[in-house]
Order: sequence, then structure tokens, then C-alpha cells
Amino acid sequence: MRSFLSERTKNTGRSSIREILKVSKKPGIISFAGGLPKPETFPFDDLAEAAHKQIGKNYRQSLQYGMTEGVPEFREEMIEWLSNFGWKIALDNIIATNSSQQALDLVSKAFLDPGDVIFCGLPTYAGAIQSFQLFQARSVGVPMEADGMDLNALETEIRQVKKSGQRAKFVYVIPDFQNPTGVTMSGRKRRKLIKIAKEYDLLIVEDTPYFGLRFEGKEERPINAYDDDGRVITMSSLSKVLSAGMRLAVVVGPEDLIEALVTVKQATDLCTSTTTQWIAAEWMSHHELSEHLTQTREHYRKNRTVMLESLEKYFPDDERISWTKPEGGLFIWVTLPEKVDTDDLFSEAVEGGVAFVPGSGFYVNGGGRDSLRLCYSVLQPDEIEKGIELLAEVVKRHLTAESRG
Ligand SMILES: Cc1ncc(COP(=O)(O)O)c(C=O)c1O
Repeated sequence: MRSFLSERTKNTGRSSIREILKVSKKPGIISFAGGLPKPETFPFDDLAEAAHKQIGKNYRQSLQYGMTEGVPEFREEMIEWLSNFGWKIALDNIIATNSSQQALDLVSKAFLDPGDVIFCGLPTYAGAIQSFQLFQARSVGVPMEADGMDLNALETEIRQVKKSGQRAKFVYVIPDFQNPTGVTMSGRKRRKLIKIAKEYDLLIVEDTPYFGLRFEGKEERPINAYDDDGRVITMSSLSKVLSAGMRLAVVVGPEDLIEALVTVKQATDLCTSTTTQWIAAEWMSHHELSEHLTQTREHYRKNRTVMLESLEKYFPDDERISWTKPEGGLFIWVTLPEKVDTDDLFSEAVEGGVAFVPGSGFYVNGGGRDSLRLCYSVLQPDEIEKGIELLAEVVKRHLTAESRG
């Protein structure tokens, strides 16, 4: 049967993270693995009311096909929400998608030919790696620093790729509370990235699903808001701020690039669910997303703090062990001594009653084996503390066994 598969399907691996999530769902395991938003943060009562109204009274539109670009009322509401971040967007510069994973697929389809090169963080979001791989692009990893991608290393990589005659298309970044590290790109680097893109004639693909989830520090403007040269395409998802199940996002960018995405989307699915767009538009016309997020942010801030305090309290005092301190979003990234292989550590942790995502799935160069991702969004504070205590035990045992062996 394999002979029926296309070359690109054959060459695309199954997401290792999906497999890990299956194991970590076993009863009795405290799981820091999934990157899900907490269901209680969804405004379910008000969304039910909006759904009732839209499907009832507006069925001619809400249950019908819609424009490929998306329902204008929904896009207008998204423009208003994004304008809070110093960003002016016209209706022709925005398209609705079935969430940002589809946006990644459309961007890959529209811009990547086999063998094209893209640049991404080391580490980066595994779903994006899979999407670029499906379109047979070569992903070149660039190390991450505490304030975002190492842009000097990026320039070195770009020069090498260009020198070798390969076609480089874009830089993929998650500037806000990156998945998986929780790191945010500084304003200085956002501006510099635009300069680099201009100098080397590249696009920037900005993926910001955690935008709006800052619970500490200074808000950064999207990279797109600095774009004066039509080079930035930004995907902004509602999954983590309103509802993941509605599968809604928008892509914002220069008109000609958005037009290309519209063409590709026509062939992909004709249009984004009009039903969920109308429900979201209805909800957004009566509620401020920023205000709704006040509680969500507070919840994630508390959980983040409990996790940081627990890491401090239970993890071995060893200068080779470190973790990030995110100012928003859902993730903390832990780096262990180089010898530790977190793929091996994962089975030991599951036996010990706790799960995480090993770092290797987020690396395009086979690296990251000494690191792991922890998600603090869905658990109660006491579960977080217990889980970190269990994980610390597993790490200590592993390190002791290794130093003996
Ligand atoms: C960086 C990033 N991009 C895209 C996605 C996909 O999100 P969705 O398709 O729900 O918008 C995720 C999900 O975790 C993510 O972390």
C-alpha cells in the first residue's frame, strides 16, 4: 500500500508529540505534556448564547458557504482586537483560516517548492516542522537566546544557504512566549529581523497564538506592525484566547501575499467554517477579548509561578540544569546536563507518575535531547507542585545512576 503514497507523505514523519500525548493520558499520571488551554477559560455560557442567536436568527449566513477570505464581520472584529497592539490592518490584508495550523499549511503550499529553505528556531513548534516537511522544504535551525532567535547566527546561516545557491524563502518565528521555550523576542530583535529580511530578500512568517497571554512585563508589538516593506505574514489564532475547538485564526499580510493564500485556500477547503466565524463575531461584538483574558492571564500567571517555585524547591542544585522564566503563555523549557537523554528519561518519568515532552521533537537538526518542555496551563497548583517533585526525583535518580554507570 505504501507505493500509493506521495513522496512527500512518505517523507513526513508522524508527530512524535502526538504519540507522547497518548502515553501521558494514562490514568494517574500528572501530565505536563499537552499544550492545551484550560477549558474553564473558554467563555462557554456566552458562546452558547452567541451560537443560539447566530444559528437561529442568522442561519441563512451562518449555516451557508462563505467567502474564501472569511466573514467580513469576523475579520472586522479581529482587526479591532489586534489594533490594541498598535497595529493598523485593512480588510484586504486579512483572511480567516481554520486556525493557525491550517495557516501554516497554506503558507507552505503557497510559498514552498521542494528543496526550498526556511529558517526556524532551535527549538521550534513541532507542528510547523511537520508542515514544512510535508512540502519538502529544508528547515535550517537557528539557536534561541533569552530574547529570541540568535540573529547573528541567522545571518550566518542565510549567507551560507545563499552562497550554496539554494533558494531561501522565509524565517519562521513565534515571537511571543514561544512554543516550546516560553521565550519572547525583544523589540530590538523584531526590528532587526525586518532589516535582515529586507537585506536578504526573505519573508517573515510570524506565528502568534499566545499573543494576549502576557501576564508580566512590557507588551511587545507584533513584528508585522514594524513592516514597511510588505514582507511579514502573521498568523493570529483564537485557540488559546477564546476556544481551541472553534478552529479559528486570521492571517495578516500584504495584499498580494494574502491573495496567494486565498487562491490556495480555495482549492483546500473553499472557506473557513462560517458557523464558528459568525459565533465568534457575535461574541466579540459584545465582549472585549482583552477584558475576558484578565482572568485567563491571572490563572496562567499563578500556575507559572507555582511551577517556577517548585522547580527551585525540588530540582537538584546543579549549574548544568536551567529553565526559562516566561512572562506569558503556557510553557517552561528545562535544560538538563548534556549526557541526559530526555527521550529515555520520558519512560522513567511515566513510570514515576509524571509526563513531559522530550526536547528532540522540537529540533530540526536532531538536537535538543538534553531538554524538555513543561506545560502548566491545565493543572491545579497542588498537582503542579506534586508533578515537579516527582520529576525532580526521576531526574536525581537518573543523574545518580549515570554518574555511577
Ligand atoms: C506556535 C504554534 N503555532 C500553531 C499552533 C496551532 O494552533 P491552532 O491551529 O489551534 O491555531 C500551535 C498550537 O499549539 C502553536 O503552539
